[in-house]
Amino acid sequence: MPARKKIGVLISGRGSNMMSILDACERGDINGDVVVVISNKANAEGLQKAAERGAEALAVSHRDFPDRELFDRAVVEKLEKREVNLVCLAGFMRLLSPWFVSRFRNRVMNIHPALLPSFPGLHGQKQAVDHGVKISGATVHFVDEKLDHGPIIIQRAVEVRDDDSEDSLAERILKIEHQIYTEAVKLFCADRLHVEGRKVFIHDK
Ligand code: GRF
Repeated sequence: MPARKKIGVLISGRGSNMMSILDACERGDINGDVVVVISNKANAEGLQKAAERGAEALAVSHRDFPDRELFDRAVVEKLEKREVNLVCLAGFMRLLSPWFVSRFRNRVMNIHPALLPSFPGLHGQKQAVDHGVKISGATVHFVDEKLDHGPIIIQRAVEVRDDDSEDSLAERILKIEHQIYTEAVKLFCADRLHVEGRKVFIHDK
Protein backbone atom coordinates (compact mmCIF):
# COMPACT_ATOMS: atom_id res chain seq x y z
CA MET A 1 0.00 0.00 0.00
CA PRO A 2 1.36 3.49 -0.84
CA ALA A 3 1.82 6.12 1.89
CA ARG A 4 -1.46 7.45 3.33
CA LYS A 5 -2.72 10.40 1.37
CA LYS A 6 -3.70 13.77 2.78
CA ILE A 7 -7.09 14.98 1.61
CA GLY A 8 -8.44 18.53 1.67
CA VAL A 9 -12.19 19.00 1.12
CA LEU A 10 -13.72 22.25 -0.13
CA ILE A 11 -17.38 22.88 0.62
CA SER A 12 -19.96 25.66 0.58
CA GLY A 13 -22.98 24.07 2.27
CA ARG A 14 -24.47 20.93 3.76
CA GLY A 15 -21.36 18.78 3.36
CA SER A 16 -22.92 15.32 3.09
CA ASN A 17 -20.34 14.19 0.50
CA MET A 18 -17.58 15.56 2.72
CA MET A 19 -18.96 13.55 5.64
CA SER A 20 -19.13 10.34 3.63
CA ILE A 21 -15.45 10.76 2.65
CA LEU A 22 -14.55 11.52 6.28
CA ASP A 23 -16.47 8.42 7.43
CA ALA A 24 -14.78 6.19 4.85
CA CYS A 25 -11.35 7.44 5.97
CA GLU A 26 -12.19 6.82 9.60
CA ARG A 27 -13.48 3.32 8.83
CA GLY A 28 -10.17 2.59 7.12
CA ASP A 29 -11.82 2.10 3.70
CA ILE A 30 -9.68 4.88 2.23
CA ASN A 31 -5.89 4.94 2.53
CA GLY A 32 -5.96 8.60 3.51
CA ASP A 33 -7.10 11.21 6.00
CA VAL A 34 -9.11 14.39 5.68
CA VAL A 35 -6.57 16.87 7.04
CA VAL A 36 -8.57 20.03 6.39
CA VAL A 37 -12.08 21.12 5.39
CA ILE A 38 -12.34 24.62 3.96
CA SER A 39 -15.56 26.50 3.27
CA ASN A 40 -15.93 29.77 1.43
CA LYS A 41 -18.98 30.37 3.64
CA ALA A 42 -18.42 30.69 7.37
CA ASN A 43 -21.97 29.55 8.16
CA ALA A 44 -21.84 26.37 6.05
CA GLU A 45 -23.59 23.52 7.84
CA GLY A 46 -20.80 21.15 6.78
CA LEU A 47 -18.12 23.20 8.52
CA GLN A 48 -19.81 22.68 11.87
CA LYS A 49 -20.24 18.95 11.19
CA ALA A 50 -16.54 18.59 10.25
CA ALA A 51 -15.44 20.43 13.40
CA GLU A 52 -17.71 18.24 15.57
CA ARG A 53 -15.96 15.21 14.10
CA GLY A 54 -12.59 16.63 15.06
CA ALA A 55 -11.46 17.59 11.56
CA GLU A 56 -9.72 20.89 11.07
CA ALA A 57 -12.45 23.16 9.69
CA LEU A 58 -11.63 26.58 8.28
CA ALA A 59 -13.65 29.36 6.68
CA VAL A 60 -11.98 31.40 3.94
CA SER A 61 -14.50 33.88 2.56
CA HIS A 62 -14.18 34.73 -1.13
CA ARG A 63 -15.62 38.13 -0.19
CA ASP A 64 -12.36 39.00 1.54
CA PHE A 65 -10.45 38.91 -1.76
CA PRO A 66 -10.64 41.28 -4.74
CA ASP A 67 -10.55 38.53 -7.37
CA ARG A 68 -10.85 34.79 -7.89
CA GLU A 69 -7.16 34.06 -8.14
CA LEU A 70 -6.27 35.83 -4.90
CA PHE A 71 -8.96 33.83 -3.11
CA ASP A 72 -7.60 30.66 -4.73
CA ARG A 73 -4.05 31.55 -3.65
CA ALA A 74 -5.21 31.85 -0.04
CA VAL A 75 -6.93 28.45 -0.24
CA VAL A 76 -3.97 26.78 -1.97
CA GLU A 77 -1.62 28.19 0.65
CA LYS A 78 -3.64 26.41 3.34
CA LEU A 79 -3.76 23.17 1.33
CA GLU A 80 -0.04 23.19 0.55
CA LYS A 81 0.89 24.03 4.15
CA ARG A 82 -0.85 20.76 5.12
CA GLU A 83 0.83 18.91 2.20
CA VAL A 84 -2.52 17.91 0.73
CA ASN A 85 -2.25 15.30 -2.05
CA LEU A 86 -5.90 15.34 -3.15
CA VAL A 87 -8.48 18.14 -3.14
CA CYS A 88 -12.13 17.07 -3.15
CA LEU A 89 -14.75 19.61 -4.17
CA ALA A 90 -17.95 18.64 -2.41
CA GLY A 91 -20.71 21.12 -3.10
CA PHE A 92 -18.11 23.89 -3.43
CA MET A 93 -19.92 26.65 -5.29
CA ARG A 94 -16.90 28.49 -6.70
CA LEU A 95 -15.12 27.99 -10.02
CA LEU A 96 -11.42 27.32 -9.62
CA SER A 97 -9.00 29.60 -11.45
CA PRO A 98 -6.68 28.08 -14.10
CA TRP A 99 -3.86 28.82 -11.67
CA PHE A 100 -5.40 26.56 -8.98
CA VAL A 101 -6.09 23.81 -11.54
CA SER A 102 -2.51 23.86 -12.85
CA ARG A 103 -1.14 23.73 -9.30
CA PHE A 104 -3.16 20.57 -8.57
CA ARG A 105 -3.42 19.02 -12.06
CA ASN A 106 -5.37 15.73 -11.87
CA ARG A 107 -5.41 16.06 -8.12
CA VAL A 108 -8.73 17.91 -7.77
CA MET A 109 -11.96 15.88 -7.93
CA ASN A 110 -15.54 17.05 -8.17
CA ILE A 111 -18.91 15.33 -7.82
CA HIS A 112 -21.72 16.34 -10.15
CA PRO A 113 -25.37 15.23 -9.80
CA ALA A 114 -25.90 14.20 -13.45
CA LEU A 115 -24.28 12.03 -16.10
CA LEU A 116 -21.82 14.47 -17.66
CA PRO A 117 -21.53 15.84 -20.27
CA SER A 118 -25.33 16.10 -19.87
CA PHE A 119 -26.64 18.80 -17.59
CA PRO A 120 -23.51 20.61 -16.37
CA GLY A 121 -23.80 23.66 -14.14
CA LEU A 122 -26.33 24.29 -11.42
CA HIS A 123 -29.40 22.13 -10.67
CA GLY A 124 -28.36 19.06 -12.68
CA GLN A 125 -31.27 17.11 -11.17
CA LYS A 126 -33.87 19.73 -12.18
CA GLN A 127 -32.37 19.91 -15.68
CA ALA A 128 -32.79 16.13 -15.99
CA VAL A 129 -36.41 16.17 -14.79
CA ASP A 130 -37.30 19.13 -17.03
CA HIS A 131 -35.65 17.53 -20.07
CA GLY A 132 -37.63 14.32 -19.58
CA VAL A 133 -34.64 11.96 -19.62
CA LYS A 134 -35.30 8.43 -18.37
CA ILE A 135 -31.83 7.94 -16.89
CA SER A 136 -29.66 10.39 -15.00
CA GLY A 137 -27.07 9.79 -12.30
CA ALA A 138 -23.87 11.11 -10.83
CA THR A 139 -20.33 11.71 -12.07
CA VAL A 140 -17.00 11.99 -10.27
CA HIS A 141 -14.39 13.69 -12.42
CA PHE A 142 -11.05 15.43 -12.23
CA VAL A 143 -11.33 19.18 -12.48
CA ASP A 144 -9.90 21.02 -15.46
CA GLU A 145 -10.23 24.64 -16.60
CA LYS A 146 -13.80 24.26 -17.84
CA LEU A 147 -16.93 23.85 -15.74
CA ASP A 148 -17.90 20.21 -15.03
CA HIS A 149 -15.68 19.09 -17.88
CA GLY A 150 -12.53 17.22 -16.79
CA PRO A 151 -11.65 13.51 -17.17
CA ILE A 152 -14.38 11.23 -15.81
CA ILE A 153 -13.43 8.79 -13.05
CA ILE A 154 -16.73 7.04 -12.17
CA GLN A 155 -20.33 7.45 -13.28
CA ARG A 156 -23.41 5.65 -12.04
CA ALA A 157 -26.91 5.76 -13.44
CA VAL A 158 -30.17 6.45 -11.60
CA GLU A 159 -33.57 5.86 -13.19
CA VAL A 160 -35.75 8.95 -13.54
CA ARG A 161 -39.35 8.09 -12.63
CA ASP A 162 -42.42 9.64 -14.19
CA ASP A 163 -43.48 11.16 -10.89
CA ASP A 164 -40.01 12.45 -9.91
CA SER A 165 -39.62 16.01 -8.69
CA GLU A 166 -36.23 17.70 -8.52
CA ASP A 167 -36.10 16.83 -4.81
CA SER A 168 -37.06 13.17 -5.10
CA LEU A 169 -34.53 12.59 -7.87
CA ALA A 170 -31.86 14.54 -5.96
CA GLU A 171 -32.42 12.33 -2.92
CA ARG A 172 -31.78 9.11 -4.88
CA ILE A 173 -28.84 10.61 -6.77
CA LEU A 174 -27.26 11.78 -3.49
CA LYS A 175 -27.06 8.18 -2.21
CA ILE A 176 -25.16 7.25 -5.38
CA GLU A 177 -22.93 10.35 -5.05
CA HIS A 178 -21.80 9.20 -1.62
CA GLN A 179 -20.94 5.75 -2.97
CA ILE A 180 -19.04 6.77 -6.08
CA TYR A 181 -17.21 9.70 -4.48
CA THR A 182 -15.76 7.51 -1.75
CA GLU A 183 -14.91 4.83 -4.35
CA ALA A 184 -13.05 7.38 -6.49
CA VAL A 185 -11.14 8.77 -3.50
CA LYS A 186 -10.30 5.24 -2.43
CA LEU A 187 -8.88 4.46 -5.89
CA PHE A 188 -6.84 7.69 -5.93
CA CYS A 189 -5.41 7.00 -2.48
CA ALA A 190 -4.41 3.50 -3.56
CA ASP A 191 -2.56 4.99 -6.58
CA ARG A 192 -4.91 3.12 -8.90
CA LEU A 193 -5.96 6.03 -11.16
CA HIS A 194 -4.05 6.91 -14.29
CA VAL A 195 -5.06 9.80 -16.57
CA GLU A 196 -4.29 9.96 -20.29
CA GLY A 197 -5.84 12.97 -21.97
CA ARG A 198 -9.58 12.79 -21.27
CA LYS A 199 -9.47 9.17 -20.16
CA VAL A 200 -9.04 7.84 -16.67
CA PHE A 201 -7.84 4.24 -16.38
CA ILE A 202 -8.31 2.21 -13.23
CA HIS A 203 -5.39 -0.15 -12.51
CA ASP A 204 -5.91 -3.55 -10.97
CA LYS A 205 -4.67 -3.91 -7.43
C1 GRF B 1 -24.31 17.52 -4.41
O1 GRF B 1 -25.50 17.22 -5.06
C2 GRF B 1 -23.17 17.60 -5.39
O2 GRF B 1 -23.30 16.73 -6.45
C3 GRF B 1 -23.26 19.02 -5.88
O3 GRF B 1 -23.63 19.77 -4.75
C4 GRF B 1 -24.32 18.94 -3.82
C5 GRF B 1 -23.56 19.02 -2.54
O4 GRF B 1 -24.19 18.30 -1.50
N1 GRF B 1 -22.02 19.42 -6.49
P1 GRF B 1 -23.42 18.10 -0.13
O5 GRF B 1 -22.99 19.48 0.35
O6 GRF B 1 -22.26 17.20 -0.38
O7 GRF B 1 -24.43 17.49 0.80
